[in-house]
Amino acid sequence: MTILDGKRIAADIRRELKEQISRRRASAGDKQTIGNRCPKLGIVIVGHNPASETYVTNKMKACAEVGIEAERIAFEDTITQEQLLAEVQRLNNDPSFDGFIVQLPLPAHISEQTITAAIDYRKDVDGLTPENVGRAAKGLPCIISATPRGIRELLSRYHISTDGKHVVVVGRSNIVGKPMASLLMQKHETGNATVTLCHSHTTNLKQVCLTADILIVAVGHPGLITADMVAEGATVIDVGITRIEDPNSPKGYRLAGDVDFDNVAPKCAYITPVPGGVGPMTIVSLLQNTLQAYGHTL
Ligand code: GUN
Repeated sequence: MTILDGKRIAADIRRELKEQISRRRASAGDKQTIGNRCPKLGIVIVGHNPASETYVTNKMKACAEVGIEAERIAFEDTITQEQLLAEVQRLNNDPSFDGFIVQLPLPAHISEQTITAAIDYRKDVDGLTPENVGRAAKGLPCIISATPRGIRELLSRYHISTDGKHVVVVGRSNIVGKPMASLLMQKHETGNATVTLCHSHTTNLKQVCLTADILIVAVGHPGLITADMVAEGATVIDVGITRIEDPNSPKGYRLAGDVDFDNVAPKCAYITPVPGGVGPMTIVSLLQNTLQAYGHTL
């Protein structure tokens, strides 16, 4: 059994990105091109969701490490949908931003669908706009949503092929499950999988999971996947990251994945830990997407 070390791979990729960005800026010399400035990312956060605050802090740190300028744009959760839409328009029109994200979840009075749909797809470095999702589904050039891109990269860096494999995705969110399934079924060397997507209304979840060569779980239900649901030799990717109160931990909580790691891991060929698996790969994908958006404005 091999643990897929997302933390280490993400650090490798950050080093590569840092070099790429500094080479690009150096080669721009004195010319008045975009290469003279850093790539710039806007990160919009609404309210004070503690998990979101942590993600945003980690994204800001990762940007600083590779040479991407990041601006945190924070609003109280009293902001109206119209005001937030106006901010999205401002960022769409401000040429100093190569890309921006609106951290999810948003407060209940704001529609995530309306806000994400308003983002200019060329600046949509989360890959969540209808344009990018549609392009991804059709196999057209696009910005791929961060978590699926990170998982694809992690598999590829460990030489785990999806070609001809049965991949079972559990969870149908717009942010992970749906784009992940869409990516894996593409006629491409990093796809070519037979994909089954399971969700809360799937009646025979255990039987379907047992047929998976690669099982990707993104539900947010700690311990959902138990050892009896995983075939010997499978690869298991755990996207779940739920905070569980734990007075014995210095932070007052610990992070739990969707997979019962201790009992599932001995059956697996490969498995991701939580934390340190998919999470750092998601952040590094955001950096790669930002660099992609920066390149497009050249
Ligand atoms: N909330 C949890 N993960 C993400 C992400 O990748 N992007 C955004 N915008 N919000 C999130």
